[in-house]
Amino acid sequence: MSFATQTLAGTKPEQYAQLAAQARALVEGEPDRIANAANLAALVFHSLPDLNWVGFYLYDGTELVVGPFQGQPACVRIPLDKGVCGAAARTRQTQRVADVEAFPGHIACDAASRSELVVPLVHGGELVGVFDLDSPRVNRFDEEDQHGLESIAAAFVESLR
Ligand code: SME
Repeated sequence: MSFATQTLAGTKPEQYAQLAAQARALVEGEPDRIANAANLAALVFHSLPDLNWVGFYLYDGTELVVGPFQGQPACVRIPLDKGVCGAAARTRQTQRVADVEAFPGHIACDAASRSELVVPLVHGGELVGVFDLDSPRVNRFDEEDQHGLESIAAAFVESLR
């Protein structure tokens, strides 16, 4: 396989299907979660426009701890009752926030962030962490982005043993 990110083409859902195929190819046969999270963060950060942070927070049994990411240095630990990430982890529902300044308790790690999407990662009924994307553009993520990025998150969860 090629490790370079490939150009995406077609409608947005078609582009996400191509990105998800690249994601599955990257993690195929590799059970190491740090390796897979690192490669998926890099793949998504370099494939999609208007993102300033893409990465993983991993659950240590108590709180979320920053894992592999692309972007500016970030907050290290996020309790489950704090921020967009905590809300995704606690509710196990994707959080799609059009305007982070309107989200009570949003944690501003990178002052450039204006909108955010956080997908919970659940494996065998257990919380593993969250997949977090920030954009410098208000309302960057729509429903198609949510579905597409949930499929990338699913590729990560399916790679876990
Ligand atoms: N904004 C997140 C914190 C993580 S950073 O965006 C990388 C939150 O409110 O949970």
